[in-house]
Amino acid sequence: MTVPIPLIAGNWKMNGLAASLDEARAVAVGLGTFRGGRVAICPPATLIERLSRALAGGPVLVGGQDCRAEASGAFTGDISAEMLVDAGASLVILGHSERRAGYAETDAAVAAKVGAALRAGLEPIVCVGETLDQRQAGEALAVVTEQVRGSLPAELATDAFAVAYEPVWAIGTGLTPTIAEIEEMHVAIRATLREMFGARSDTVPILYGGSVKPSNAAEILRATEVGGALVGGASLKAADFLGIIEGL
Ligand code: PGA
Repeated sequence: MTVPIPLIAGNWKMNGLAASLDEARAVAVGLGTFRGGRVAICPPATLIERLSRALAGGPVLVGGQDCRAEASGAFTGDISAEMLVDAGASLVILGHSERRAGYAETDAAVAAKVGAALRAGLEPIVCVGETLDQRQAGEALAVVTEQVRGSLPAELATDAFAVAYEPVWAIGTGLTPTIAEIEEMHVAIRATLREMFGARSDTVPILYGGSVKPSNAAEILRATEVGGALVGGASLKAADFLGIIEGL
């Protein structure tokens, strides 16, 4: 049976100045000879190149937090997948709920970005997740599986991507779903990937994200079909991020 290699990715969001490079270095040092999975940090775009240089040859991968679907052009303020690669990134978070909500990103827009990222050689981490209203209305499973279907290009010919299940109501709130709710969703996402891409998608890690911290990481990471974590706030401090990685 093929199983995904776990991935723990830190999403620094719009946090981090040059001094934060020390936190990332401390993560690399703290990992030492850790072989339990892959670890990535996704800093703001301004730090990608410096972080890539600082972490070169070590165990921590560097990723972006978004990219544009086009490779270049008159898109003031935007960054393409090629630019992220050029700066040293090997992954990119796409379709984060903060982008979906704040920039009206649709599933189709996310799918176009996924295609662009893969063409540029980046591994996309594709985020999906329901709002509190949708969960309370009993729509969580339908909403999330529909997002998975719409946010991944149907012609995807690779398993070099990850999906992150991030309930919107759990992000930055300290709230988390029960383990049973996480497992139910991850099993449904796995089944959707199987339907779309067949058995080769069995190696795609399905990450959980939303208020992951050292105290709840081990239990979440042990849950069925949880292949890692996407960590926001707790990835900003090396000690907390390392504490989460220890849960693998
Ligand atoms: P959080 O954020 O860990 O701070 O809840 C997770 C995310 O938005 O990726």
